[in-house]
Parts: sequence; structure tokens; C-alpha cells
Amino acid sequence: MTISKNQTLQAEAVPCFRAQAQPNIALVKYWGKQNIPGNIPAVGSLSITLDALRTQTTVRFDPEIAADVFVLNGENNPSGLPRVSRCLDLLRQEAGTSCRAYIESDNNFPTAAGLASSASGFAALVMAAGKALGLEVTRSRYAQWARQGSGSAARSIYGGFVEMKLSKRRSDVITEPLLDAEEWPLEVVVAITHTHVKSVSSSEGMERTRSTSPYYSRWVATQDQDLHDAREAVLARDFERLGLISEQSCLKMHGLALAARPGLIYWTAATVSCLHAIREMRASGYPVFFTVDAGPQVKAICEPRVTAEVARTLQSVNGVLKTVISHLGQGARLV
Ligand code: DP6
Repeated sequence: MTISKNQTLQAEAVPCFRAQAQPNIALVKYWGKQNIPGNIPAVGSLSITLDALRTQTTVRFDPEIAADVFVLNGENNPSGLPRVSRCLDLLRQEAGTSCRAYIESDNNFPTAAGLASSASGFAALVMAAGKALGLEVTRSRYAQWARQGSGSAARSIYGGFVEMKLSKRRSDVITEPLLDAEEWPLEVVVAITHTHVKSVSSSEGMERTRSTSPYYSRWVATQDQDLHDAREAVLARDFERLGLISEQSCLKMHGLALAARPGLIYWTAATVSCLHAIREMRASGYPVFFTVDAGPQVKAICEPRVTAEVARTLQSVNGVLKTVISHLGQGARLV
């Protein structure tokens, strides 16, 4: 069903707020949750927020409606609604209201295809909803709400380089920016190899990995060291060091996912060809490294002087449908 703007957001009288957030790409990956309420990750993570990919979400609370309505990319989306409503409940509780909402969200990139649409989606959602409810809260509060919608979404509340770390007792999460986008203006070439919705969601893949992969405990045990090393590399703007840690974190994550039962294969043949192409470029002196999330798209992180060449190379890899070039971007904000 297609819902026109007139039916939803323009019914008027009740103010609506629109927020924009961008996906982030983890250089040290989050994969696995603790078995406690609140969507608490089992490991910390470190990411960069992109600029070119965008989610814009409009929220309007309306005392006249009996249930939330969620419209994604122009289509009513009942399957995504429960998760969205659960996240909004956190903000409703804070505001002391049970008022239902119209939520309309648009992505300028493929949804649920390994491009972190849930990260930008929940970050934009909580910011628009918080403002619509008149909540005066800090970014860190927004990050907590976004995380309960989707773990990686907390990082999209901030721009540039962002770390999400576990508290000392590991029962809570602190998300904080490390460097702004302008402080180390790296660029990212996203090579899109497949645009269909992935068959196993991140949440399901993580749970399967946690419960069946023989490598899971080592993954959790080695994460703090990876995070420490990556944080130092970011603060020192040490590209080579960050690249080595990031590629290893990515391959470790996919390694333990591959070893789950049944194994999780998020890559296509073109994904693997891109990884080889990036390593060949690096061997020839190009400052570039890769990462891949729970999907088939490859993200090549590079110094700006080689971005065009990296994009040309990846575009010529067999099976690559499209490349998108992105600067690093800002955190979630009202638009
Ligand atoms: C591979 O944040 O999508 O992109 O918390 O279940 O919504 P949920 O998972 P999600 O997982 C992201 C996994 C990843 C790595 C990362 O972004 O750190």
C-alpha cells in the first residue's frame, strides 16, 4: 500500500519534526549481544559516520490515532513497525505520554542490504521523536535510545570517528565521539554488489554466532585490545595501523560467522573480488583498506588523493553494480 503524504504527515494541527542521520561503518565490529535486556552488545566497537548515504525521518505524534503507523520509502511497513514502536515507547515513557505517532522514513540507498540502514534509521527516529515530544536531553541519551532500537544506531548519533564502549561492569554502554569528520577527512568508496534484502538479519546472525560458533569466546576476549589499538591509531591519525586492525576485525567477524551452524555467508563472489582488488592496490602503495558488514557490499576506506582511482578500480570488478563515494559525515540532526 502506498500512503500519500496528505494521508499521513500533512493531516496537520500536530507539529511534526524531521531528522536526518547517516549510516556508520564499523572499523572494529560489534557482533554479538549480552543475554540481558536493553540490547547491550557483548563487545565495544568503533566506527566512522558516512555523509553520502542518508535517512530522513519525520515523526508526528497524534492524539487522534489509535496505533503507530510506519511508512518506509513511501510504503506502509507493518513488518518493521513493532521494532519502531518499541523504540518509541522508550521516548513516550520519558515524556509521560502514550500518544501514537505517524513515522515516515526515507533512505537514499538500498534498505537492509548491508549498508547500515537500521543505524541511520533508528538514529533519525529517536532524534525526530525526541524533538516532537519536546524532550530536552543530551546526545548521549539519544544514543542510549537509538541503541535499544539497533546496536549500531547509537554510533550514528555522532559524526566522524565514534567509539561505543562497555562500562566497567559491562552492563551498560557509553558512546562517544573520538574525532570529528574534518579532523581526519578520510573518504569511503562503497562498492554495491547486490541490492536485495539480506536473508539473515544482523540480530539473527549474531544470536546464531553466539550460540553455535566455536570461535565466539575468543572474539569477545580479544575485542578490548582491538578497540584500544584502533582508538590509538585514530587519535594518532595512523592510517596504516588503523587499516590493519580494521581488516582483521572484519575478517575475524566474518570468520566466526562462517563457523556458526549453519554458517553465515554474507558475501558474494564480487565481494571477495573487491577484497583482492583492494589488497592489490595497497600492495602497489595506495592508502586504502576494506571492511564489510553483514551483507555483500564492500567499503574501501582511503585517503582522499586516491579515492577516484579506488572507485575506478572497484567499479571495474566483475559483479560490482555501482560505487558510491562518501566523505565522513555529521551526527543525527534536525533538518
Ligand atoms: C556487522 O546494529 O544491525 O554492522 O543491534 O541487532 O540491530 P542490532 O544489530 P546491528 O548490527 C550491526 C552489525 C555490523 C557491525 C557493526 O556495525 O558494528
